[in-house]
Amino acid sequence: AISGCTSSSPSGEPTTTAPAEKPLYIVGIDGAYPPYSWIDDKGVATGFDVESIEWIAAEQGFEVKVQAMDWDSIIPSLLQKKIDMVYSGMTITPERLEQVNFSMTYWIVNQSVAVREDSTLTLDDVKDGKVVMGTQSGCTAYDWIEENLVATGKLPEENVKVYKNIQLALTDLQNGRVDAVMYDVPVIRTSIEGKPLKVLGTIPTGEEYGVAVRKEDTALLADINEGLTKLMASEKWDELKEKYEME
Ligand code: ARG
Repeated sequence: AISGCTSSSPSGEPTTTAPAEKPLYIVGIDGAYPPYSWIDDKGVATGFDVESIEWIAAEQGFEVKVQAMDWDSIIPSLLQKKIDMVYSGMTITPERLEQVNFSMTYWIVNQSVAVREDSTLTLDDVKDGKVVMGTQSGCTAYDWIEENLVATGKLPEENVKVYKNIQLALTDLQNGRVDAVMYDVPVIRTSIEGKPLKVLGTIPTGEEYGVAVRKEDTALLADINEGLTKLMASEKWDELKEKYEME
């Protein structure tokens, strides 16, 4: 019941000496996106991006709760306020900028093409559309395939297979259901480890990663940018790069 008395907590303790509560923000990630964000064996969110936001939160005085979700529903979830930011290797694109705001760039990546270890395909075969391609839905690799292979008539749309996350695409690559998988370089590198797959080559897209927030959340964005600036100038940044073998 609401007593109208705001000076005491439910336990009756005076609250005047309690520290001011820190704001809590929900961070949306793809839980299958190593080395940036994934859910480990114990069910705990980890990775380069997850550790980055935890460091920024401590530095800037807010709390975070990391929540894994499907990539193709992550911007809708942000707009519906189910989460407060997306920090999971999201490329800053003009289309996304129509819906959300981005922080400063914190990483730059290209696209990578993976094939089976025993594959005789060349990167030119891929660029000529002579393959069944797999990737994640709603990602920049998909956009590249659509623009450069499908729109140009090199690859029929039915030969593009999209998956909820990249691990499922790589499983189908191993099974032979697709011939090649295109995705962000660091994620392909990390995700094919220990599998009978290899990197065929790189498509230089020069994409910039940023943290996405709702357009109206300007104070949060300023906080994230300040935290990112501090992080990227700190020893923690070098530590993270080394730990996750980035660069
Ligand atoms: N960088 C690419 C993009 O923005 C792929 C990102 C996928 N990120 C993820 N967490 N699944 O579309």
